[in-house]
Amino acid sequence: MQQHSQYLDELFAFINASPTAFHAAAAGAALLRDHGFQRLHEADAWGDLDPGAYFVVRNDASLIAFTLADSPRSGQPLRMAGAHTDSPGLKVKPNPLQVRQGCVQLGVEVYGGPLLAPWFDRDLSIAGRVSWRTGQGALQCSLIDFKRPVAVIPSLAIHLDREANSKRSIDKQIDLVPLLMQTPESSPPDFKTILQRQLGLQHPAAADAEILDFDLFLYDAQPLAQVGLNGEFITGARLDNLLSCHALLQGLASAKPRRNGLIVLNDHEEVGSVSTAGALGTFLNDMLQRLFPEPGVRQQVIAGSLFVSVDNAHAVHPNFVGKHDPEHLPQLNQGPVIKMNANQRYATNALTASLFRQFCQKAGSPCQQFVMRNDLACGSTIGPLTAAGIGVPTVDVGVPQLAMHSIRETAGSADGWHLLRALTTFFSETDEAIRCPQAAL
Ligand code: CO
Repeated sequence: MQQHSQYLDELFAFINASPTAFHAAAAGAALLRDHGFQRLHEADAWGDLDPGAYFVVRNDASLIAFTLADSPRSGQPLRMAGAHTDSPGLKVKPNPLQVRQGCVQLGVEVYGGPLLAPWFDRDLSIAGRVSWRTGQGALQCSLIDFKRPVAVIPSLAIHLDREANSKRSIDKQIDLVPLLMQTPESSPPDFKTILQRQLGLQHPAAADAEILDFDLFLYDAQPLAQVGLNGEFITGARLDNLLSCHALLQGLASAKPRRNGLIVLNDHEEVGSVSTAGALGTFLNDMLQRLFPEPGVRQQVIAGSLFVSVDNAHAVHPNFVGKHDPEHLPQLNQGPVIKMNANQRYATNALTASLFRQFCQKAGSPCQQFVMRNDLACGSTIGPLTAAGIGVPTVDVGVPQLAMHSIRETAGSADGWHLLRALTTFFSETDEAIRCPQAAL
């Protein structure tokens, strides 16, 4: 297995290359191809799949990869894990440009629940997916990424808002409109022409394309960094949840021996998961039906399987210790966190928690536990949705982090490594070692 420093380099490269869920799926596909995975398309017939490693992408932003050591018909269990590819942020509106005071500004919608204050005064770039028409009239789509800072949302000076440090609130429609460029004109330039120029730079074959529509997001142009006097921390955008996506991809790809395993990386977790490619959509179920068309065999597989739902957890913040339950204080660099909730906001139970604890122990990784205070609402993730959707025993885990949903989040530099080793162990385990015990009734 790789070394910790090499792991961090690869994690940083993966997240820096993934400013949007589309780019995360593309970076995931590249990682899988490097490990010999073969892409399948949902719209094709697959026939009988030979043992091997495969992946499928839906809506360019969700990905399922699986490894088969046996014929699917054998009914052997799957080592399953899931994470989400999307992060909260700002999405470009369909008709975005306006001119005010000589500045061209870009209208944005808020995607999910970002912390908005950190978006001010940062060097922002734009990335996403565009659909375009060729000279012959055929429809195509491509990912684009401006890669350099092209926008900024300046704060209002303290002199013009003396109460900014005590009473500031952010109006999402009025306050959050980035500056894109200056112009002497009174009407804005054509945004699609701007996109067409960028598309032509990245894809010369599309130089004369006509842009039709786009799914574009703003992102922080500053790359990830290792921070702290001894490098204890990592900071950067989208640690929630691309750190987990990377660990799943790397863990499945490097498991030895290669067994029956599957990972699902879903888009749209941050907006409730109800979509074609979200965890409440049909993606995972469709793949399982396709792999195991016989219902009895499919149910046999799922009943013997384990699903590890991986999404970052809240580390205790030293300035706000009172926000955590005093007996459950996950700390940075103390290993992945097992998340529990009596009301099933997390799908973990004693059996699935114990299984994950054993993988950590075997991998030499520490692990911790989290439960929300009774007087604060508990978040949730794809774990309970998947557990309920397909009926698989599930554990919710994730590395502890600070500043969740900030444009620049903070995590411990050792925790992703601990998580990856635990997941690699999980994907390499025997059928017996991933199966929940049953009480004698
Ligand atoms: Co998350």
